Amino acid sequence: MQEKISQIKDEYLAKISSVNTLKELDEIFLALFGKNGVVTQLPKEFSALEKEQLRVISPLFNQTKQQLEEAINRRRTEVREEYYQKLTQEEADFKTTVPLKSRAGSAHPLLQFEKEISDLFGKLGFQLFDAPHIDTDYNNFEVLNIPEEHPARDLWDTLYIDTSNVGKLANQLLLRTHTSNAQIRILENFKPPIRMMVLGRCFRYENLDARHEHTFDQFELVYVDKGLSMANLQYLSEYFLQSVLGKDTKVRLRPKYYPFVEPGVGIDGLCLFCKGEGCKVCGYVGWLELGGAGMIHPQVLKNGGIDPNEYTGIAWGPGLERILMLKLGVGDVRLFRSGDLKFLKEARYI
Ligand code: FA5
Repeated sequence: MQEKISQIKDEYLAKISSVNTLKELDEIFLALFGKNGVVTQLPKEFSALEKEQLRVISPLFNQTKQQLEEAINRRRTEVREEYYQKLTQEEADFKTTVPLKSRAGSAHPLLQFEKEISDLFGKLGFQLFDAPHIDTDYNNFEVLNIPEEHPARDLWDTLYIDTSNVGKLANQLLLRTHTSNAQIRILENFKPPIRMMVLGRCFRYENLDARHEHTFDQFELVYVDKGLSMANLQYLSEYFLQSVLGKDTKVRLRPKYYPFVEPGVGIDGLCLFCKGEGCKVCGYVGWLELGGAGMIHPQVLKNGGIDPNEYTGIAWGPGLERILMLKLGVGDVRLFRSGDLKFLKEARYI
């Protein structure tokens, strides 16, 4: 009997350690401890044993029974842990592969457009220049011929920063209303001939509608050389707008007042939404104002240390969203910064 018990023990301990599923363990448990299980049935054979033998066999049987039970419980815990570990690994693989793949994005249309513009003007020798988003009243207005109290300030609804406690800068800081805040920095820091471009965010305290956003991007060219004229400006306008919007794009220049250029022009593109008939997008004008431009005012050149008798300059400042609205067929400027993924997917950059 002693031998039989050790045989059962060895055989089933080996089986228990080799199984890998809870189902197999349940089967072993039943084979041992079920109604007709080997362990359950074994005591029936003890009746044939001598008392002396029983004294040895009984504790051996109990010990074996306990060992087998413990072995099954231990393996059950191990199998569970292995299962969860595998599951966690599979889940982790799933998280880092499948969803990321389907969420792969692309650069925002504005960013792609900025790249296209800088490539386009890079070819003509223009270099990128950067100016701060938070700037002084002096750089954004005053040095551009727009002193305090000048009615032209009303052209730019401005977001001022409360700096009443900031010493010298008290009431001097604002969010730049245009990329023209780069003009004085460019004129002061470079000697003609100058070919610079600025791309970046601007901010205005606006009444928001399909054409007006509080945060938008502008592009500014500052071009200073001997003998530049409105003819060069006309050429640059067509070069730019026909390159990005297509050869058939209709562009018009109309006189417009900006204190820092003389003469100044507004650059309009024919509204593609109504083909010039007038609609909500263009404010029922038929044309969409894309930007402002002009010959840099002699006083601004002087402010930058450049002799206006020797050099002339062109400044050119369109809004990027307005051009992208035409390029991508977007009917509301506010969509660009809405964070709407559906819009971003549809407004594919072409
Ligand atoms: C200016 O900001 C001048 N700095 C442009 C300039 C540069 C003139 C150099 C002369 C020489 P204006 O305020 O018109 O001008 O804005 C220029 C363009 O920015 C507009 O034609 C429009 O395309 C865009 N823009 C202006 N305000 C908004 C707005 N709230 N939302 C979206 N785009 C805007």
